[in-house]
Amino acid sequence: MEASSLQTSPAKRLEGKVAIITGGASGIGRASAKIFARYGAKVIVADVHDDRGRSLAESSNQTISFIHCDVTKDDNVKNLVDSVISEHGTLDIMFINAGILGDISPSILSTDEGNLKTIFGVNVFGAFFCAKHAARVMIPVKKGSIIFTVSSASVAAGLAPHAYTSSKHALVGLTKNLCVELGQHGIRVNCISPHAIPTEIMTKGFSMDGESAARLVAETSVLKGVTLEMDDVGEMAVFLASDESKYVNGVNLLLDGGYTTTNPSLGLALANAISHLS
Ligand SMILES: NC(=O)c1ccc[n+]([C@@H]2O[C@H](COP(=O)([O-])OP(=O)(O)OC[C@H]3O[C@@H](n4cnc5c(N)ncnc54)[C@H](O)[C@@H]3O)[C@@H](O)[C@H]2O)c1
Repeated sequence: MEASSLQTSPAKRLEGKVAIITGGASGIGRASAKIFARYGAKVIVADVHDDRGRSLAESSNQTISFIHCDVTKDDNVKNLVDSVISEHGTLDIMFINAGILGDISPSILSTDEGNLKTIFGVNVFGAFFCAKHAARVMIPVKKGSIIFTVSSASVAAGLAPHAYTSSKHALVGLTKNLCVELGQHGIRVNCISPHAIPTEIMTKGFSMDGESAARLVAETSVLKGVTLEMDDVGEMAVFLASDESKYVNGVNLLLDGGYTTTNPSLGLALANAISHLS
């Protein structure tokens, strides 16, 4: 690490930076907004959930503000970015986090056109619009960090419904392509792929309460004794947003405790069978 990075107080890793977090009214985005603010960033939460967004802003001591934005609408995203530039003069970090799971039907045979369009509308089209308008204001100043929340479903197959999984794969492709184009302008583009965390998206999708969902995740996890939390994603996003990751570009950072690099089912079944024999 260079001397300049070391001189930055760890408590103020994002001092002077302005960040938009989409889907910041709840779940991972909300937790991240608080963490970004704690590290010194000015945070603008963009979401369709007005009540939650406003209450977060009101409780934040003016470090977080809220702007209503439906990311599926190009003009909403344009207005969001333009408002941030006119209020703060800059946009350093675009954390593109809004996402939906949609129907959890496991079969391709029951794929519904409306559901597919809704999921791609938020997860893919929304992400494109956010990246486009962030790039529009970052290119002239030749700096910025764009981060997508993707998913362990972008690596492990059979984990989530087809539409959701394909939408998250699309974001990995977008990250890599943007890393090439925007890298020419000094802008970094990366994504984070968390494994399951019992936020609303997951408890609704699984049709179970948070405790049961957390138990299921713990039972099937590779790394035992620790639990992935929303704040862990926020901390990873801080790393990608800050100058500490100044040469990290085009990566899909997995936060999955090793889940997607392993498939222990046969080994575990075998161990189980052997223990029954002995
Ligand atoms: N929770 C998990 O297990 C998990 C795992 C991997 C990836 N993710 C991803 O993390 C991201 C955040 O999800 P979460 O778990 O915090 O769920 P969440 O449901 O708590 O939060 C999602 C947020 O996105 C907002 N949103 C939805 N549609 C929007 C739109 N059109 N415009 C603007 N905002 C919109 C919602 O209002 C909500 O505040 C998503 O992209 C999700 O796919 C979640």
